Amino acid sequence: MAERKITLEELSQHVKDTDTWMAINGTVWDITGFAGIHPGGPDIIQEYSGRDASEPYNSVHSLKLAENNFEASQRIGILDAEFVADKPRMENTRNPRLENDLPQIDEIINLDDLEAAAEKCLNKRSWAYFSGASNDSFTKADNADFYRKIFLRPRVARAVQDIDTKTKILDDVYDVPIFNAPASLMMLAHPDAEMALAKGFAASGSTIIIPTLSSFSTEEIIEALPAGHPFYFQLYVNPNKAALKKMVDSLCKLRPKAIIVTADLPVFSKREANERYEKRIAKQKRASEPRETTAEKQGGQARSAGVSIDPNLCWSNIKQLKERTGIPVFVKGIQCAEDALQAWKIGCKGIYISNHGGRAADTAQPTILTLAEIRLHYPFILEEMEVFIDGGVRRGSDVLKAICLGAKGVCLGRPFFYALMYGEEGVRYTMQLLKDELETAMQLCGITSLSEAHTGLLNTRELYRDVESPQSLSSKL
Ligand code: HEM
Ligand SMILES: Cc1cc2nc3c(=O)[nH]c(=O)nc-3n(C[C@H](O)[C@H](O)[C@H](O)COP(=O)(O)O)c2cc1C
Repeated sequence: MAERKITLEELSQHVKDTDTWMAINGTVWDITGFAGIHPGGPDIIQEYSGRDASEPYNSVHSLKLAENNFEASQRIGILDAEFVADKPRMENTRNPRLENDLPQIDEIINLDDLEAAAEKCLNKRSWAYFSGASNDSFTKADNADFYRKIFLRPRVARAVQDIDTKTKILDDVYDVPIFNAPASLMMLAHPDAEMALAKGFAASGSTIIIPTLSSFSTEEIIEALPAGHPFYFQLYVNPNKAALKKMVDSLCKLRPKAIIVTADLPVFSKREANERYEKRIAKQKRASEPRETTAEKQGGQARSAGVSIDPNLCWSNIKQLKERTGIPVFVKGIQCAEDALQAWKIGCKGIYISNHGGRAADTAQPTILTLAEIRLHYPFILEEMEVFIDGGVRRGSDVLKAICLGAKGVCLGRPFFYALMYGEEGVRYTMQLLKDELETAMQLCGITSLSEAHTGLLNTRELYRDVESPQSLSSKL
C-alpha cells in the first residue's frame, strides 16, 4: 500500500506534547514523548517538532538510527516536500576550515600536531565538546602529566631488531595493544564516525570499543568490521528498565567480546567549555530572534546525558548483567584499588581504569596512579583480570609504561576524534604513528615483545610517592 503523503502544512499542526510529529529524511514519524528521552536533550527535539529535522539529525546521526529506534507503528507517512537527505551537514557543523586548512596528513608527526590541527580546523562547538573536561580540567592535565613522572630504565645490547607488539585479551590476539576509548557524537568530527573508526582499527590489527551513544547503530558498525572480527561494547546503563532490556537483549545476539559498563558518570559533570559556547550562541540567538527565550537552556549537551545514564547504578546491577548475559563484563571508570577489588569480587572479567578523560570528577587522581595503586595493594588483580586503561596517553612510550605496570589494553579518546578529521585514513595513520613510537620505545628499552615488559624497565619512585598508602587504604575499604 502506498504510504500516506504529508505536507509541511499538515506536519506543522502536530506540535503539542501529546501529539508530536517530525520529518526525518523524507519520513514523517510520530515522536510524541521522545523529547523527554532523547539522549541529546529535549531542546533540539522541541525546536524541530512539527518540522523537517533532517539537517540537525543528519549532522550527528546515521540515516538508519531513526528506523532502528522508532517502532513501525510510529511511522505516519512520507513528506510531500523537497527531500533533503542530500544536505547532510547542518550549518554549525559545516566547516570550511576543515575543508581548506587541514594540514596534509603526513605533516602530522605526533599526537600533539593532531591536536593542534583540530584546534585550528574544527568548528568551535566541536572543539569545545571534544577538548573540554570538568570544572578546572585538573584531572585531564594530570592524566597526561603523570606519565612524565615515570622514567624509563633502558637495558642495552639486547638484539632488538625484530619486534612484536601483540597483546592477548580474553583469548584474542591483537597486533597492537591500542584501542579507542569509547566516546559519543563522533559524527561531529567526520560523517563516517564509528564506521571509519571500526575499519581503521581492524585494519591496524586492533578493534573498536563501540559506544552506547554512537552516531551509527551497533549493527552498522559491526558490518564495517571484517566478518567475525572481535569487538567490545561500552554500555551506559539506561535508567529505563525496558529500554535497557531491549538494548541488552539485542546486544547479546551480536556477541561482543565483553560488555564494558561505564560507571564513573552517575551524574553530569560541569563542562565549562561547553557551557560557555552554549551561552554565547544563546546570546547571539536572543539578539537575532528577540522573542525566543533561551535563558533557561543551560549547559546543552553536557547536561543532557541523564536520560540515558542511570544515577542509581550499583554493583548488584553489574553482577546481574554479568549473570543474565553470560558475556564477560568489564567496569569502566575504576579510579581506586578498592573498586578494582570490588569488580574482581563480583566476578567481572576485566577492569577499565579511567576517569572519563577528566570529564567526571575533577581532581580525581590520574589513571596511571590508579594502576600503580592497584599494583601495590592488589597485584593479583593484574594477573587475574584483563586491564584496560585510558586518560592522557599520547605517546608510544606512555603505552609501554602502562603495559609495564600491568595493563593489557591502552585506550585513547580525544586523539581519535582528531584523527577522524581525516576519516578512516586518519585512524590508520594515528595507529601507525603510535605503533612506530611503541616499537621504538621497546627497542630502546631492550625488549622485543610486550611479554617482556616489566616494572624493572621503569623508575616509578616519583609516581609511587603519590600512591595512597596501605594503612589509609585499609581504613577506607
Ligand atoms: C532516533 C532516535 C534518536 C536517538 C537514539 C538519538 C540519540 C542521540 C545521542 C546518543 C546523542 C548524543 C548525546 C550525548 O553525547 O550525550 C544525540 C545528540 C543529538 N541528537 Fe539525537 N537521537 C535520536 C533522534 C534525533 C532526532 C530526531 C534529532 C533531530 C533533531 C536529533 C538531533 C540530535 C542533535 C542535534 C544532537 C546533538 C546535541 C548537542 O550537540 O547538543 N536526534 N542523539
Ligand atoms: C568527547 C568525549 C566523549 C566521551 N564519551 C564517552 C562515552 O560516551 N562513554 C564513555 O564511557 N566514555 C566517554 N568518554 C570518555 C572516554 O572513553 C575516555 O575515558 C577519555 O576520553 C580518555 O581520555 P583521553 O581523551 O585523554 O584519551 C568521552 C570522552 C570524550 C573526550
